[in-house]
Amino acid sequence: MAIERTFSIIKPDAVAKNLVGAIYQRFEAAGLKVVAAKMVHLDKAKAEGFYAEHSERPFFNALVEFMTSGPVMVSVLEGENAVLRHREIMGATNPADALAGTLRADYADSIDENAVHGSDAPASAAREIAYFFSDEELCPRTR
Ligand code: PPS
Repeated sequence: MAIERTFSIIKPDAVAKNLVGAIYQRFEAAGLKVVAAKMVHLDKAKAEGFYAEHSERPFFNALVEFMTSGPVMVSVLEGENAVLRHREIMGATNPADALAGTLRADYADSIDENAVHGSDAPASAAREIAYFFSDEELCPRTR
């Protein structure tokens, strides 16, 4: 399996609960390496652009309001099978369905405020990474 990259967001609810370190600890313990990271406070246009594929869904406005309610940590994680591995660590979108020991089971309060985002496929990972990071911001991990 080739080394892959995925895009991750620690959402405003988890940042507000001071869970940034605990969440990165889970990623690193699972063998994912941080190759880029920054804290950003999304404005409405940036959040709407990121979630454009959901613009017709009933929760869209609430999702944008939530994602702009406070700072988030955006990261690029690298490792074998990184997209799937990261999704397994996060757990199901709805924390009520998330397996025990996943981030959403442990840290999310509801489907509306579910602590983390992760790319759902390598193609979306590439698009999402480029939406937040320039090539110069990505640090290759040689060890
Ligand atoms: S779904 O329901 O399986 O199609 O959800 P998904 O395509 O994986 O992602 C939907 C994103 O919207 C966020 N969100 C909600 N989804 C469903 N229902 C409600 N009420 C809702 N509120 C917010 C959900 O967390 C997904 O965002 P990300 O950032 O990918 O987690």
